[in-house]
Amino acid sequence: MDAVVAANESLVSELAALNSAVSTCRSCRLAETRTQAVFGSGDPDAELMFVGEAPGFHEDQQGLPFVGAAGKLLERLLGEIGLTRDEVFIGNVLKCRPPGNRDPLADEIEACQVHLFRQIELIQPRVVATLGNFATKLLSGDPTGITRVHGRERDVRLGQTRVLLYPIYHPAAALYTQAMLRVLEEDFRRLPELLGRQQAPVNSVEAVPEPLHSEELAAEEAERQLGLF
Ligand code: URA
Repeated sequence: MDAVVAANESLVSELAALNSAVSTCRSCRLAETRTQAVFGSGDPDAELMFVGEAPGFHEDQQGLPFVGAAGKLLERLLGEIGLTRDEVFIGNVLKCRPPGNRDPLADEIEACQVHLFRQIELIQPRVVATLGNFATKLLSGDPTGITRVHGRERDVRLGQTRVLLYPIYHPAAALYTQAMLRVLEEDFRRLPELLGRQQAPVNSVEAVPEPLHSEELAAEEAERQLGLF
């Protein structure tokens, strides 16, 4: 069998196994109130992944992410850069709907993040666009709000996966604020350039180990001179 086909079959089956684990997950209180978990949808091999906040009413009913008004806007923005939702992967920080669409709670994010990190590890996207504050803060590990960081890409390591993290406004917020919509449209238009970008050199990735102390640098230099590396 062709190696690429085999790799893809194994990816699809690992994602299916994760989907099945998510569908029966009872790690937090949201299991009591959900209609169903919403795993996420799209291309398992996507280069571009979107991470929203949590399923809302329609997503909880249909089992698919971004199927309401915010989803329609996301699809329009994708169309404007020549993509469909089937060509990207769309997921959320939380896989289950918080009752009444309230904000996710810290312990729910904590309990659910393992699923998102595993999705990223399996899909290996090149660019992860975080939609709004919850996804941005979780994946950047930085509490700075979306208003300050939107449109600023960062080369980061998420688990073992290096991605370009690209925070943008949440489409639901942009639905009601014209000024925010214009900023979201502008940030969205940069996605093709980010997707085409070469991966940055390893030494520019964030979350690299602490700088070496001078004795360690001296030892490294001595080993280099001895031809050890
Ligand atoms: N908002 C989100 O953050 N996610 C969805 O799936 C739908 C709306």
